[in-house]
Amino acid sequence: HRDLLRRGRLSDDRTGEVMHFLSSMTADHWIAEMDIQVDMAHLLMLREKEIIGEDAARALMGALLSFHEDGVPEEAYDECFEDIHAGKEAALIARVGEEFGGRLHMGRSRNDEVATCIRMRLREELLGCMAAVCDLRRVLLDLAAAHRETIMPGFTHLQHAQPTTLAHHLLAYEAAFGRDFGRLADAYGRVNECPLGAAAFASTGYPIDRAMTAGLLGFERPMGNSMDAVATRDFALESLSACTVMMTNASRLCEEMVVWSSAFVRFVQLADGYSSTSSIMPQKKNPDTAEIMRAKAGTVAGALAGATTITKGLPMSYNRDLQELTPHLWRGVAAARESLVVLAGMLSTATFDTDRMAAESDRGFSTATELADVLVREYGLPFRTAHSVVGRAVKQGALDLATLEAAAEEVAGLSLTERGLTAERVAAALDPAISVAERNAIGGPAPDETARAVAARNTDL
Ligand code: ARG
Repeated sequence: HRDLLRRGRLSDDRTGEVMHFLSSMTADHWIAEMDIQVDMAHLLMLREKEIIGEDAARALMGALLSFHEDGVPEEAYDECFEDIHAGKEAALIARVGEEFGGRLHMGRSRNDEVATCIRMRLREELLGCMAAVCDLRRVLLDLAAAHRETIMPGFTHLQHAQPTTLAHHLLAYEAAFGRDFGRLADAYGRVNECPLGAAAFASTGYPIDRAMTAGLLGFERPMGNSMDAVATRDFALESLSACTVMMTNASRLCEEMVVWSSAFVRFVQLADGYSSTSSIMPQKKNPDTAEIMRAKAGTVAGALAGATTITKGLPMSYNRDLQELTPHLWRGVAAARESLVVLAGMLSTATFDTDRMAAESDRGFSTATELADVLVREYGLPFRTAHSVVGRAVKQGALDLATLEAAAEEVAGLSLTERGLTAERVAAALDPAISVAERNAIGGPAPDETARAVAARNTDL
């Protein structure tokens, strides 16, 4: 019986299918190195508390150090073991003998062991995600600083709405990714608590020192309740949730890159390195990177859905279902991290067509709002009246003085020329650059306001 867990209560007559079905070996590659560190911390604590003898501790630490150097031996990954924890214990015993090797699992269980490993690995993944978000924000802020005067159309309902600037548009995404960083950091704080020593769920009668192992493994503190420590995966749900929200932001930005790179719009060209071509249509340059990332957002949301569904019906405390959650966690956080890294590169190498943006910036009467505001501010109309007058002129197909005058007479029975409106004043109101410069309230697109915003966001970053 290679699996030492099956020479007591249970026989080892299982089919290979069942072994494969029960084993978490594939996903356990993610946590193998963490498991060695968990073993070392536990061993140091057992020795410190004199729960284990000097000779056994030396022999075990020697074997663990060699596993750390060379990796856990290949035979530990055999699917006859349910998981890397059982496989590694067998490998340790094979290395140092059962008299010493059979003593490491005092005062713990695989339940607290696996939860500790997952949290340690997840810390690294979250830190990787956070670093990637920071790099992406850096790219967005640098682009925004360079494009404060780049006038472009702003959209609602994907219809030309009001002129804005590319800086303003990019700062909108930067704000979203700033919140994503906060969500990841917040999740990190709750991931960083140590379950080790909870054992199966009821803690242990050995005189263990949970604060010591938690400290050695870099955790903020031991988890407060030993049943919660092995039962909960809410830290995984929270991390996947932060990744899911972040990926919705990334996906929206990618959707815009797809739309903007189409021949209808032509606001952006992605670099060749982020594009693909067609096997049949030789002219094609496709924004595949942005499309794959849009789909990765679905993969991450799917991981969250899988993980929440697996957890929701479980009674206290540990249930084997939890093993099936872990691959969703790795798939989700890895897809999110990889996406954010690629997104920063895709944006920093993209070419924005500022002439095209300028040419579109007053299409579709998109400066009509500013014109209505001028009629209010300078010619005394109530806003709703100005809105109707300008709207009627748009319906007539022109925003010139004569059409506005006729619209004002028709809609409100008043004369704008009598109030002093001139053709020059109308023309100035329709200039997208002037319209943008007027919008200098906090968070607006005016170049002096986006300069302030870029500086503030740089400080935050
Ligand atoms: N491999 C398991 C997991 O990933 C940990 C082992 C706990 N197994 C058990 N039968 N209690 O959750």
